[in-house]
Amino acid sequence: MCGIVGYVGTRKAATIILEGLKRLEYRGYDSAGLAIIEGGKIKVVKTVGRVEQLAKEVAKVHLTGTVGLGHTRWATHGGVTVANAHPHLSSDGKFALIHNGVIENYSQIKAFLLTKGYTFTSETDTEVLCNLIAYHYAKERKPAAGESAFLESVRKALRHVEGTYGIAALCADFPDQMVAARKASPLILGVGENEYLLASDASALVSSTRNVVYLKDGELVLITPKEFSISTLDQADVSPVVDRIDWKVEDANMDGFSHFMEKEIFEQPLALENAMRGRFSEDSSTALFGGLNLTPAELRQVDRFMFCACGTAWHACLVAEHLIERFARIPVEVDYSSEFRYRNAPLDPQTLFFVVSQSGETIDTLAALREAKRKGYRVMAINNVVGSSIAREADGGIFQHVGPEIGVASTKAFTSQLLIGAMVALYVARLRDMSFNDGVDYVKALKGVPDLVRQALKQAAHIKGIAQRYAHYQDFLFLGRLSLFPIALEGALKLKEISYIHSEGYPAAEMKHGPIALISEKCPSVFFAPKGEIFNKVVSSMQEIKARKGPVIAITTEGAELPPGLADEVITIPDCHEAVLPIVATIPIQLLSYYIAVERGCDVDKPRNLAKSVTVE
Ligand code: AGP
Ligand code: GLU
Repeated sequence: MCGIVGYVGTRKAATIILEGLKRLEYRGYDSAGLAIIEGGKIKVVKTVGRVEQLAKEVAKVHLTGTVGLGHTRWATHGGVTVANAHPHLSSDGKFALIHNGVIENYSQIKAFLLTKGYTFTSETDTEVLCNLIAYHYAKERKPAAGESAFLESVRKALRHVEGTYGIAALCADFPDQMVAARKASPLILGVGENEYLLASDASALVSSTRNVVYLKDGELVLITPKEFSISTLDQADVSPVVDRIDWKVEDANMDGFSHFMEKEIFEQPLALENAMRGRFSEDSSTALFGGLNLTPAELRQVDRFMFCACGTAWHACLVAEHLIERFARIPVEVDYSSEFRYRNAPLDPQTLFFVVSQSGETIDTLAALREAKRKGYRVMAINNVVGSSIAREADGGIFQHVGPEIGVASTKAFTSQLLIGAMVALYVARLRDMSFNDGVDYVKALKGVPDLVRQALKQAAHIKGIAQRYAHYQDFLFLGRLSLFPIALEGALKLKEISYIHSEGYPAAEMKHGPIALISEKCPSVFFAPKGEIFNKVVSSMQEIKARKGPVIAITTEGAELPPGLADEVITIPDCHEAVLPIVATIPIQLLSYYIAVERGCDVDKPRNLAKSVTVE
């Protein structure tokens, strides 16, 4: 959830940490802080608010140390205050700790530590862990030769902890060391020239090094300016595997756009090209996936698909359900990861699992993956971050390849998930009843999607005008049918996430079974009304809204003839194949919610209360 950065090397740590925190701010922005070791003492600076504010505070202090750590917080335990901001110091001042995650048994540990004379200045679970480390350090035997007393105290403390963590710690008695560890929260070690960096996300490392070690659950790393060593909670040594990150620092810049979300909306044609590159058969009649790790014969045995995801990725699963059932005629079930994990669903033996997650770190989805694997199912991941926890734990899968998505509101990751879902539907359909010719038409439609998206993006100025006229409304309905019902849900989610406007998505015809009670001149409805078999039905639903004075914004396709005067606003997208329609229809709702948020003066890339990847339950 939060952002973690650490530095051990020869350069001024504060500068590198601030740069890293700026890149990680999208992961949490309640408060920020850093700790630097200098002259055997730990110096801490922290503030409520953004990294920019922290930089101002840091500029007032002279910090030249070359070992330090920093944090941006997304509060779970305790309000947004300076006292609760990380890093936390142990009450003896010896240890500083930053933490991503939740220590579930923190109150029991705290009660114990209070009896031992430890004191607390914050309401966080993190400060409890910091003092637990200090407790073990003060109490334990002298470490054996070659062991670090610092590392051993962290190890011992972590053995008593229930919950999740990505942590990094400093100890005043070991001024050139840092210890970090993880359990279900991402941590990456960057291996540079005479320096090491630590981060919860690769974007904080890439300006210094592209050589990284992905720490695994249950591992600790001890870092000094000269070397690092990895071991487990049980003290077993681990041989590190150094991977290379293949994206560039430019990928995480704004390139002249006002927000990352805007940039990511407009780069979708390219992102979609990247997501499908090299993934079609030579005869252009089906899709190919190198990472699926299933033979066609094995896939033919599958008689049910189960998809788990959260938020926007869950909407992508609903579209995949529609397309797989429609084209491959295989039943599909979609569940929220957080529900699947606890509901003990009965499953057919021949079920193939998919988890879908942009970040690959969403804890609910990771838990759903583990639950499915525990039950003996094979789990495939559709995921954007190579090296993420979900990518590493899945049995196989498909990378989205759309580059880092920084805007908290997912855009290009969503449309690439829709595209990959459509490609999976094609692949499975071609193993069953879809003909060669239908396969060729389908592939042609998929290959044409970047151009269709380009055309839809040309509506930006028109949509901006609509946004300016509608930004003052407090309630919206998004209505669509079949494969566009999930896009209606996505439209409602986008708008509420970044504009704080109450909005709901419904199947268009379901509207009359309840939500119609909301309709008045104060509640606009955004309708998806594409040309096709149910066009007239959607038009009837629009009439029902108009009859109750509800403003109507219609998103329709070329060639569809809306009765004149029915819609107050019309956005026209190109007419296209069923498999790609959800992708093209997503563009107007992304632009509409983006421009409404801008019009309302909202912080689009850092909406209140949200974090980019949700690594707590
Ligand atoms: C998207 O706009 C949201 N911020 C959120 O719903 C997100 O899609 C969800 O948290 C899942 O994230 P993931 O794809 O990284 O697992
Ligand atoms: N649980 C810790 C807190 O509330 C860490 C939250 C985070 O991941 O930022 O401070």
